[in-house]
Amino acid sequence: MAKETKISMAVIRRLPKYHRYLGELLRKDIDRISSKELSERIGFTASQIRQDLNCFGDFGQQGYGYNVKDLYDQIGKILGLDKNYKTIIVGAGNIGQAVANYAKFESLGFHLQAIFDKNPKLIGIKIRDIEVKDVDCLDTYLKENPIDIGIICVPKEHAQMVADIMIKNGIKGIWNFAPTDLNAPDDVIVENVHLSESLMILSYRLNESELFKE
Ligand code: NAI
Repeated sequence: MAKETKISMAVIRRLPKYHRYLGELLRKDIDRISSKELSERIGFTASQIRQDLNCFGDFGQQGYGYNVKDLYDQIGKILGLDKNYKTIIVGAGNIGQAVANYAKFESLGFHLQAIFDKNPKLIGIKIRDIEVKDVDCLDTYLKENPIDIGIICVPKEHAQMVADIMIKNGIKGIWNFAPTDLNAPDDVIVENVHLSESLMILSYRLNESELFKE
């Protein structure tokens, strides 16, 4: 399917949005859409959408547009959503519990296997039927249970230590909520989440007109 081996991150970061909108169309039983209509809904230009999708193969047909189900499935495949991933969360505080409680991740193929914390008040409690384990057991747990994705929700001072245990035990994907840049070998993918950066963009946009006032 892939025409190129290396796709730009800018294109990849737009794919989840395509996937989400196509999923909404599917739920409304819309089976076909032109790139113009898709662009009006998504807010990218039709040529941007065509260019993005052309990186992966020929999806649309002149005069027909896109088959919604096909495109949804193909983009899901490109995003690796046709697979299942075993995940764990380390840090069962505010963010860790919010992530653990968000059941939609399961339907995307991300299956939470275990949660760890170091706080004795949290160890033993259940979040969506998963008991929080003592982080001292993390190393042993990972040796016995292969995990694909580690989700880090601890304070930044502890994040590298947690990442090191994950990496040492073969975890290849880290979803990092701690506000720190983790050191990881090239074969480990770290995806950082920064809610505050998104909030700063909102704040910029709220104040943008003042910056350019005469
Ligand atoms: P929290 O204090 O509610 O939870 C942190 C949890 O980590 C606590 O339960 C604590 O016992 C546990 N913990 C600490 N050290 C640990 C270790 N070595 N091993 C296992 N568990 C350990 O904090 P909150 O609000 O949930 O934030 C968690 C992290 O997420 C922080 O680094 C914070 O800066 C970050 N954060 C990131 C956001 C983002 O947009 N990415 C937004 C808000 C917070």
